[in-house]
Amino acid sequence: MDKFVIEGGTPLHGSIATSGAKNSALPELAAALLTDEPVILRRIPRVRDIRTMERLLVDIGSDVAEDGEQVTINTPKILSPEAPYELVKTMRASSLVLGPLVARAGRARVSLPGGCGIGARPINLHLKGLEHLGAKIEQSHGYIEAVAPNGLKGGRITFDRITVTGTEDILMAAVLASGESVIENAAREPEVVDLAEMLIKMGAQIEGAGTSTIRVNGVSKLHGVTHEIIADRIEAGTFLIAGAISGGDLRVTGCVPEHVAALTSKMIEAGVRITDEGGGTLRVQGGTTLSPVDMRTEEFPGFATDLQAQYMALMTQADGISFISETIFENRFMHAQELIRMGARIRLDGRQATIAGRSYLTGAGVIASDLRASASLVLAALVAKGETVIDRVYHIDRGYEKIEEKLSGVGARISRVD
Ligand code: EPU
Repeated sequence: MDKFVIEGGTPLHGSIATSGAKNSALPELAAALLTDEPVILRRIPRVRDIRTMERLLVDIGSDVAEDGEQVTINTPKILSPEAPYELVKTMRASSLVLGPLVARAGRARVSLPGGCGIGARPINLHLKGLEHLGAKIEQSHGYIEAVAPNGLKGGRITFDRITVTGTEDILMAAVLASGESVIENAAREPEVVDLAEMLIKMGAQIEGAGTSTIRVNGVSKLHGVTHEIIADRIEAGTFLIAGAISGGDLRVTGCVPEHVAALTSKMIEAGVRITDEGGGTLRVQGGTTLSPVDMRTEEFPGFATDLQAQYMALMTQADGISFISETIFENRFMHAQELIRMGARIRLDGRQATIAGRSYLTGAGVIASDLRASASLVLAALVAKGETVIDRVYHIDRGYEKIEEKLSGVGARISRVD
């Protein structure tokens, strides 16, 4: 199993580029199932979750051809409308094929995801949404079977709570349903907007993506498209924190500053210098004394839960006490125990963490427990004295493209070992 060995204490300098967003690419790959014409996605991040989704598409009947940062998906026919347990258990986002499969093939069989490291994460809201579009749902042997032999019909869906992939799944089903659909309490994440823009280019009629009410007028057919995926705001945010925590001077390029505004406003409040240089470049300058700034995670445009772990690493270096509340997932503080092993002072109470800074962190052997938790350990290791060995970095490979190459390119002493 691969490990990262990181020698801390080097400020990062130079430019670091943002890749395409994993969480846009995943639903957009699933959206390719909605048409029998070729779909070309550009700026595809080469991360493990994307490979998993591509494998799933091949099983379903797509021809998937990679060419550098571009992938072409051709699905003349749905051969097997199924997402098997073997794939869903390694990547919950596999359930994103549910909506497209029922919409195109009238039927889908998708494994229930089961438990997850960061919380229960059920897909009940996806299923309820599909029922409102006329699908019949049954569950047996750990699988969900959804059928709509005569096609889906437009309907009104009001989500009980905001769900990102739930909104995407239902949006992809609604574009081929007959008549009008309205999705209320929809997720407003940039990834939802990016998916809607791609679907519109394919011929879908969608209004309101990016607001909490999305209206869809179903069409009978979608055509092929070439679409460039937006920048990964979570990767960009992780790099901004890397620049700050290491006391460096870093330019994060190819990002969308508005998509990381909730993070940058907290960082600026904490005393980090961040400048928008235009053209998608944010310059971050660390080295100042940091003040503690409280944070609670929220749906977009609030502070992303996917940056909570990384922000906690930064707050271990602030002068004083800060509070972090995790409101999206019930068990997303697993990085705290590992940060404590490196010398952080953190107390957990349910979904609230209290961080007492500034801690003098020292390198230690730590274990990556999930994707974003792993990123927070990399960040802590950048400032820790001595060597940190992070085990189980396959978690980080799910969502960060060549992170060790990108970070060593700006001066980090990081290497991958077996
Ligand atoms: N929820 C339900 N029922 C559902 C769906 C969600 O109760 O049917 C609950 C979840 O358990 C959670 C909350 O609603 O407590 C929000 O979950 P959401 O559905 O929004 O999460 P998701 O769509 O499964 C996406 C991202 C996650 C990110 C969350 C929140 C993708 C592929 N995944 O997950 O990304 O944390 O939204 O922003 O887009 C990551 O990249 O590391 C990651 C975990």
